[in-house]
Amino acid sequence: MIRRAKVHLVGVIWAGGTNQMISIVAAIGKNRELGIKDKIPWHIREDLLRFKNLTLEKTVVVGRKTFESLLSYYQKSQRPFPKRNYFIVTKNADYIPDLKNVVEPEKSQFRIFKSVDEAIFEAKKNDKGEIFLIGGASIFKQGIKYANRLYLTLVDGDYPDADAYFPDYSDFKKIESEEKRSDGKYTYKFMTLSKV
Ligand SMILES: NC(=O)c1ccc[n+]([C@@H]2O[C@H](COP(=O)([O-])OP(=O)(O)OC[C@H]3O[C@@H](n4cnc5c(N)ncnc54)[C@H](OP(=O)(O)O)[C@@H]3O)[C@@H](O)[C@H]2O)c1
Repeated sequence: MIRRAKVHLVGVIWAGGTNQMISIVAAIGKNRELGIKDKIPWHIREDLLRFKNLTLEKTVVVGRKTFESLLSYYQKSQRPFPKRNYFIVTKNADYIPDLKNVVEPEKSQFRIFKSVDEAIFEAKKNDKGEIFLIGGASIFKQGIKYANRLYLTLVDGDYPDADAYFPDYSDFKKIESEEKRSDGKYTYKFMTLSKV
């Protein structure tokens, strides 16, 4: 049973109001490219692993399109959906994700929200741990103002066909960690940044 969350927003969500961490995890090209035709332009196993390790068993806020890409991936591969609380954002008040491969008790991990603000507000109330915004472009654009940490994978490549971009993140000036990597096909850097 999917619950459409009824949320009463009181005032503004202010990430700095508590010690709670709101983080963004994303992989971007040299020009902040995020995607081409609803697909990620590269395939970097270590990046997927980093994403998984960071977000497993956490609350993630995700746009409907990115969520459906995940859904289709897990349905095609017949792998179980990783355990996370998925806060799915859509304008569609009647949205019901196709969770036929998800067993009943785990269906409560999926909740629907009608705005990014509501999803973050409710995530903060429900989960005192780190909350992740996992995309796509629209969620990053609307949610970056609430984030205090970015986990970025900077892929060393240009993707001129990109149609989805990460927002400007010049406010995140403090480098918490930086690690250069290569898998033979891609050169990339794992970076963790925070606001000063
Ligand atoms: N490189 C990376 O790390 C990464 C990560 C994730 C995604 N991506 C890429 O990002 C691209 C997808 O980004 P996207 O922006 O097109 O899609 P998205 O953010 O995944 O989803 C967009 C949808 O979210 C809902 N939404 C967004 N803002 C809303 C609001 N304020 N209120 C209500 N609903 C809202 C709408 O759903 P409805 O249409 O149902 O109303 C909207 O169509 C793809 O290319 C994907 O591969 C890249």
